[in-house]
Amino acid sequence: MAWEERVYLDYAATTPVAERVIKVMLPFFESAFGNPSSVHFEGQQAEAALEEARERVARALGAQPREIFFTSGGTESDNLALRGIALAEHQRRGAYRILITPVEHHAVSTTARQLQDVFGFIVDYIPVDSYGRVDPDDLHDLIDSSTALVSIIHANNEIGTLNPIAEIAAICEEKGVPLHTDAVQSVAHLRLDLATLGVSALSIGAHKFYGPKGVGALYVRQGTPILPVQTGGAQERGLRAGTENVPLIVGMAEALEMNLETLDQETQRLRALRDRLIEGVLDAIPRARLTGHPLERLPNHASFAFEHVEANTLLMYLDHAGFACSSGSACKTGNPEPSEVLQAIGFTPQWAMGGLRVTMGRGTTQAHVERFLSILPAVVEKCRVASRVR
Ligand SMILES: Cc1ncc(COP(=O)(O)O)c(C=O)c1O
Repeated sequence: MAWEERVYLDYAATTPVAERVIKVMLPFFESAFGNPSSVHFEGQQAEAALEEARERVARALGAQPREIFFTSGGTESDNLALRGIALAEHQRRGAYRILITPVEHHAVSTTARQLQDVFGFIVDYIPVDSYGRVDPDDLHDLIDSSTALVSIIHANNEIGTLNPIAEIAAICEEKGVPLHTDAVQSVAHLRLDLATLGVSALSIGAHKFYGPKGVGALYVRQGTPILPVQTGGAQERGLRAGTENVPLIVGMAEALEMNLETLDQETQRLRALRDRLIEGVLDAIPRARLTGHPLERLPNHASFAFEHVEANTLLMYLDHAGFACSSGSACKTGNPEPSEVLQAIGFTPQWAMGGLRVTMGRGTTQAHVERFLSILPAVVEKCRVASRVR
């Protein structure tokens, strides 16, 4: 199949780097390559670029520059928030409980589990409804003075559901407990105003909004107790040691601004494509269900479960037909497991094996959606036949 015939429908996994982002990064690989910690001209030039990028990222998020800490991506931001805040709150006031949901990204859930297994914290789970949403009242009842940290995903990567983060933040504020949210998916599609959102910490990663891979940021509201988890030099005001990746950081600032410039039109366009896709799939395919919230979801995100379909097989057939999609289950290996997220929101293993995530972006057109809808029913049927034969 010719490359140009392929249809990429996996923007939640990653996005292509925008041309203008590549352009602004290049000088910082070549002529302006200095280390921001060096005292000479080259170092000052790099430092100026770094601080300008910090101001731009802060402005785009409604934060203060001193509240932005650059990292190597969403995973590191989540790790720094969880480990850094939990350890600081334990040191400061002996708090030992961590509250998360059962539908967090592994960057949060695995880190929380390590804090439990190795550092003696207790991880408790805030229930979610059948859409993967937290009811703020449930959280209200669960938090107490032993809670070191609450971490709740803003927009779910697998099922697209949005959590009521501002309401959740108000409860955490009232209880005096820091709230971290993983906004790696949401920042690409929602205008965030951290001055009013009320969270203590928030993770982003550039490659979800047309920036480069391997760079992200953690917002830490001023006054939030947090310890470094990567120690060494005094970079990032001592919170994250290591020479800053200036080209990628400059690229992230550019990508974030670029994305916001057309966010409203793109949201409208993507929402229409998403709704057409959801309607088309549910109309044409028997034993198919939408996963995640029908309305409170990312504008570019459609996700489904198909009974008696194995996600890996489905993705492989779709790939052969020219479509790049993903599932939520632990795939890529020969022995896929049912999706943890789908099981946490009440799907049986027969359904949770068959998750499909279709995420759209700047390159997606109506024609792509129609082409996808024209092939999917037969592909799903082929998977069902294959599973009966086995
Ligand atoms: C919700 C969420 N959190 C964290 C990550 C990890 O981000 P990164 O790939 O930048 O490490 C992802 C990426 O898929 C994600 O979707």
